[in-house]
Amino acid sequence: MNRQLLRIGILASGRGSNLQAILDACREKKLPAKPVVVISNNASAGALERAARAGIATCYLSARTHPSPEYLDRAVRDTLLKYGVDLVVLAGYMKKLGPETIAAFRNRIVNIHPALLPKFGGPGMFGMHVHEAVIASGEKESGATVHLVDEEYDRGKILAQESVPVQDDDTPETLAARVLEVEHRLYVDTLRRIAEGSLEFPQD
Ligand code: GRF
Repeated sequence: MNRQLLRIGILASGRGSNLQAILDACREKKLPAKPVVVISNNASAGALERAARAGIATCYLSARTHPSPEYLDRAVRDTLLKYGVDLVVLAGYMKKLGPETIAAFRNRIVNIHPALLPKFGGPGMFGMHVHEAVIASGEKESGATVHLVDEEYDRGKILAQESVPVQDDDTPETLAARVLEVEHRLYVDTLRRIAEGSLEFPQD
């Protein structure tokens, strides 16, 4: 019965609220997917705790466990392969994936970014920096983007976007909170469409 569930491997570095939204949706059967492993580069990530609480295998892989970037890349790839992952889901993963992992999962890695790409993406655009930059630019709209991951930061094909207004009295924190709410819904919804095959998705 579970044979049709999309097997997802999630990589996360921080508190893991997007991970939690995904785990909840899978548990509630709103998302036809099975989270099979959660990998983090941060041993004390809230994401690892959330995964353990949900009974999902966890794996800590970092420059400490693997000082050579090549070995780290292979360890990430091999872990995803070992768990039979169909789709790699980045949820606040702060490290760049290595070339071996990207090659092994080409067109099968997705990320969520807390802005309307291609604006406010690229190196240095993470966390509060994104929301600070949006407010400083005077944009009236921000939002969240789900996109495919390739060798360049925040450049892969855009799969879904949803916007939120930027209010005159917004601080980076209030804007981040408004965007985060959208992220949780948009990520689950986009993964559901991928799992159901209703989203146009490049086939290698
Ligand atoms: C989110 O804002 C996501 O867009 C970005 O990193 C943040 C992760 O938050 N890539 P969380 O760990 O899912 O709470």
